[in-house]
Amino acid sequence: MNFINIIRKKSKKNKLSKQEIDYIIKNVVMGKIPDYLITAWLMTFYINGCNLDEAYFLTLAMWKYSKKIDLTKLKIKQPIIDKHSTGGVGDKVTLILLPIIASLGISVAKLSGKGLGFTGGTIDKLQSIGCQTEWSQKQMVALLKKNNIFVASQTNDIVPADKILYNLRDLTGTVDNYGLIASSILAKKFAILGTHVYLDVKYGSGAFCQTYQQAKQLVRYLKYIGKKMQRKLTIIISSMQQPLGKAIGNLIEVKEAIDFLSGNTNSYSDIKELIYQFAIKILVETEKISYSDAKEKINFAIKSKKALHKFYLWIKDQKGIDLSKKNLPFNPKYKLLVKSNKSGYLNLKSTAQIGNICRDLGGGRIKKEDKIDFQAGIHLMKKNGDYVKVGEVIAVLYSSKKINDDIKKEFLDNIVIKI
Ligand code: URA
Repeated sequence: MNFINIIRKKSKKNKLSKQEIDYIIKNVVMGKIPDYLITAWLMTFYINGCNLDEAYFLTLAMWKYSKKIDLTKLKIKQPIIDKHSTGGVGDKVTLILLPIIASLGISVAKLSGKGLGFTGGTIDKLQSIGCQTEWSQKQMVALLKKNNIFVASQTNDIVPADKILYNLRDLTGTVDNYGLIASSILAKKFAILGTHVYLDVKYGSGAFCQTYQQAKQLVRYLKYIGKKMQRKLTIIISSMQQPLGKAIGNLIEVKEAIDFLSGNTNSYSDIKELIYQFAIKILVETEKISYSDAKEKINFAIKSKKALHKFYLWIKDQKGIDLSKKNLPFNPKYKLLVKSNKSGYLNLKSTAQIGNICRDLGGGRIKKEDKIDFQAGIHLMKKNGDYVKVGEVIAVLYSSKKINDDIKKEFLDNIVIKI
């Protein structure tokens, strides 16, 4: 078998076999294939499609060439919950949902990713508060036993193929492909095996699936692979038609997550709705309690600050800042107010563009070696459907570097205001 022949085969729209995909992933993991050939191959999938079987073979190979940790066979309190989103703008659900669930005594263990394309990544957000994100099996188990929660990234042992492909997809515009997304997510979910996997499939202008129909198509891929690998998945489809909450960025999203966990939930109706939807589902399914009892438990976790303290402990245990003692270091050097030049009802044209603006402020990567500016971000003062007066502030942009007026123009060009 030969890598170039496989690229040629797929570029002519022929389906790849299980053996060919296995060969690709094996050699990628062994470091035998240069990045330019891997991206050429990714591009053939991106352009010519990756069918259900190819996506399954890809998941299988990424899982096969990974260290596998079956948490259900270790002495860890069950159930063990994992939750993953297909990616969005301002999506800080993991930072909020996981400590709520963990504070109720349920184990949560999860592999996450960095920012991908225009979307943010949990790993970057954790790193913004000093967390270590690569952990060995022994360390993961120790974290779970101590504090019943961890979130880690792929490593050179744990789903190394996804670590390599994920980075390259991010930098080469080959993210939004059903097979590549489904295999990337599920290889991670099956490598670190808990008892329950919850997936949040996003659709809208801030997601990789632009429409509800596309999200259903991605669900089809996820279910197909889940069935082939004999794993149950619980999937929710949710809207990413506008950023989730008001903050987009790294430290600024952590700040919003802390504000929510501190009890200020009513300021973020969209986050609240999604958090309760997931948390109730998890509690009803795993604790066998009623909907209203589940809701009461979640209210209690937030009101009593148990969830907030669990968040602080989680971050501290992952070697991050002790936020129970120190303030969040969100102190951007530059800020710029974006004011409306009209009165009327506001709507964003594209949520992905908000993610791109955040990246241009320094909050994301364009090249592989780019370092993220954790201070960079956007605070939305107005959301879709809000009335805005001329001269009123729509958003505040933050960065460690001087923010030029082009970025402000990009922001204003991305909104429509109708009377
Ligand atoms: N999350 C992942 O882990 N991978 C993707 O490709 C998209 C979202």
